[in-house]
Formats: sequence, C-alpha cells, structure tokens
Amino acid sequence: MSQTNPAKITLGDKTVDLPVMKGTLGPDVVDIRKLYAETDAFTYDPGFTSTASCESKITFIDGDKGVLLHRGYPIGQLAEQSSFLETCYLLLHGELPTAAEFEPFETSITRHTMLHEQFDRFFSGFRRDAHPMAIMTGAVGALSAFYHDSLDIHDLKQREISAHRLIAKMPTIAARAYKYSVGQPFVHPRNNLSYSENFLRMCFAVPAEDYVANPILTKAMDRIFILHADHEQNASTSTVRLAGSSGANPFACIAAGIACLWGPSHGGANEEALNMLKEIGTPERIPEFIEGVKARKYKLMGFGHRVYKNYDPRATVMKQSADEVLEAVGDKNDPLFQVAKELEQIALKDEFFIERKLYPNVDFYSGITLSAMGFPTTMFTVLFALARTVGWIAQWKEMIEDPGQKIGRPRQLYTGSGPRDYVPVSQRG
Ligand code: ACO
Repeated sequence: MSQTNPAKITLGDKTVDLPVMKGTLGPDVVDIRKLYAETDAFTYDPGFTSTASCESKITFIDGDKGVLLHRGYPIGQLAEQSSFLETCYLLLHGELPTAAEFEPFETSITRHTMLHEQFDRFFSGFRRDAHPMAIMTGAVGALSAFYHDSLDIHDLKQREISAHRLIAKMPTIAARAYKYSVGQPFVHPRNNLSYSENFLRMCFAVPAEDYVANPILTKAMDRIFILHADHEQNASTSTVRLAGSSGANPFACIAAGIACLWGPSHGGANEEALNMLKEIGTPERIPEFIEGVKARKYKLMGFGHRVYKNYDPRATVMKQSADEVLEAVGDKNDPLFQVAKELEQIALKDEFFIERKLYPNVDFYSGITLSAMGFPTTMFTVLFALARTVGWIAQWKEMIEDPGQKIGRPRQLYTGSGPRDYVPVSQRG
C-alpha cells in the first residue's frame, strides 16, 4: 500500500492533514483515523457508501466496469475453469493450489463432512414448517458447542480446523435443513463424491432408490457455489468481521453472517426474485409490473446493487447456467425464464433503470436455475450461505491475522434528548 499527498480537512480554525492511501486497484482511501483526536469531529456515513472498513487482499470489485476478481482472478474464468473447492483454497490461501497442495486440502474437507450424531437432535427441535434459514442460523451457531477443540482463535492450527469444519459441514447442515422440511430421512455424506455431487445427493437421494446426480446439474451447482463464494465487504461479510472483531469464535461469527444474509435486500433477494417472476406469470404482464416499480409500489427484485452500476459479472454466468440447467431438465421453454429474459430486456431499455444504473444482479437468474434443479424457494438463501461460508471465513481469518486488528466500534450522530431529570410515574402526565 503506497501513500500520495495528504488530504486536508478544515473544521473551524483547525486544519488537519489526512494520509491518502493507494490500493493495488480501486479508489484512493482517506485515512481518517486521527480525525476525532485532532478535531473532535466524527465522519458520518450510515450506509457505508463512502467508507472502506478494512484493508483486504481477497476480493476486488469494480462496480462501474462490472468486474469481480478473487485474488486477482476474474470470476468468469474461475466459474468456467476452476472448481468450488479450488476456489475455496484460493480465497483462504491467496494462491491457486498445486496438485500436492490441493490433495490434502480436499481430503481434509471431505473427512470433516459428518456431523456429531447428537447434533441431529437439533433439527427435530424445530417446527416442521421452520424456514431452513432459521434452522441454519441456529444449527451453525450450535457448532461451537460441539467443537471446543477448535475455538481458540489465536491458534493458527485451530483456525484452520474450524475453517475446514465449516466448509465441510455446511452442505450436511443445509441438506438436513431441507430433508427435515420435506419429512425425508437424512442422507449421510459420501467421501467418494465431489463436494457438489455429495451435496446434491444429500438433498435428493432417498433410501427407496439409487441416486446418481446429473453431471450437468453437478457442474451447475459447483458454478453457483463459485459465483457466491465471496463478495468483499458486503453486509453479511461486514457482520462476520464485526462479530469476529470482539474475539467471538468462528462458528458464532458465521451464524451472525447467516442471519444478516437472510434479509431480502441481501441473500433473500433470490427467493423474492423468483416469487416476483411467478407473480408476473406471463410476458404480457411485464409492462404493468414495470409501471408498479416506477410508481415505487415495489422493487424489481434481482436488479440493482450497491456496488455494481453495470451488469453484475456473476449474472452473466448465472444466465448461462440457467440455460444449461433448463435444457438438462427438459424445460428449455420454461415460462418463467422467458418472463425473466423479456423483463431484463425491457428494464435495460427503460429510462427509469438506465438513469439509476440498475442492472441484473446474481439473484435475477439464480432462482430460476435452482428451482429447475429441484430446490424449493426457501432453500435458495441457504445455498447462498453455504457457498459464502468460505468468503466469510477467509475474511474473518484475514482480520484475525492482521496485527493491527481492533474491535469494530462505530460512533454515532446523537439526535436524542439532552440531559434531563428522572420523573416518578406519579408525576408524569
Ligand atoms: N427496483 C427499483 N428501483 C430500485 C431498485 C430495484 N431493484 N434498486 C434500487 N432502486 C432505486 C431506488 O429506489 C433509488 O431510487 P431514487 O434515487 O429515485 O430514490 C435508486 O434506485 C438507488 O437505490 P438505493 O436503494 O439507494 O441503492 P442501494 O445501493 O442502497 O441498494 C440494493 C442496493 C439494496 C441491492 C437495491 O438495489 C435493491 O433493493 N435491489 C433489489 C433487491 C436485490 O436484488 N438485492 C440483491 C443484491 S445482490 C446480493 O445481495 C447478492
């Protein structure tokens, strides 16, 4: 990280020089850490629209150009040529693995897929109609009650074991959340299958018949996991970092990330996007729907992004996956896919969306794809959480390993009442 000429800020009669730092890519950053000490003023940026909350070497996004790089590698190349587990290694370690490095990593993840037998009792504690994200939040938090031997965040080896446990056990927990909701028996992981094939089997196999995953669907699942693996300092990742900054254990931090991801403005959008397409139903109803968006009755879900002011590069890959999956399941003319493609075309030509730089994001086509693969809408965000777990852990690990790491503690602009005296209830009126 290099520095350029300082920025100057004048408040009243005080002028302070603030260092300006340059990253490898992306905007310069004004280092305001001494601002409060020197001027007695805070900065104000509630939605973090102009705030870099940390230094990171993991993921880079250029929202204007629609670029997403993991450790420098473009997302399109990773989605096309890598695998999810290799991408996990890349995110965690900074480099693509050699064959000799990848083999023990893959073995470790494969060997940690099982859950403690007692853990299964958690699932039956939930109501049958519980949302699987509610189950995920609880179950992942509960992992810290089972794996005491990997909770010391200051021990590098323990951090690594927790990371492997989380990446390995998320598919098992996610598949159990699904099986529980449909009343089918849990399917145990199989070590001879790839990460994604094993997950599909745990979701869709039943004891009554053999299950062999369609290789096109396995490839699509793996690609969907790659597309969701990390996305720099988004809301859930920032939640994980903030939770972790207090020294909380990694399982607790990831549970916090899952809770944040559930919101409809974040990971919950893929569920909402598919519901929206179902509600529109046919291409003829699109103009009426668009009028409702413009009248601010509702949002076009799966469109718009805080960072991308161009086509989300993940949406391009996702659209292609939707095409391949629909063909593989014999549903090439799926009416919802037709509605989505037409809706996208209409929105991209409409002044309302052009003016606001609203483009499809990764969630616009993911719902259609996952639905064609056999997942109910309630599972969409769960799959997102499963894939994002590696990004959360990589970011958490980077933070813990930063020698200058401090607890995250934002300040505020207080606009409440000034000091006043307590009034007994008998005198209030
Ligand atoms: N449909 C209609 N209008 C929209 C949409 C949308 N999807 N997104 C933004 N806008 C409008 C806003 O109303 C606002 O208009 P205005 O300036 O006239 O008031 C303008 O575009 C700017 O939007 P903001 O809400 O200020 O943008 P912000 O960066 O805060 O929000 C967000 C980003 C939350 C993603 C928003 O675009 C949204 O709600 N999209 C739909 C939900 C969605 O798809 N979320 C998934 C995000 S990707 C992910 O989490 C993996």
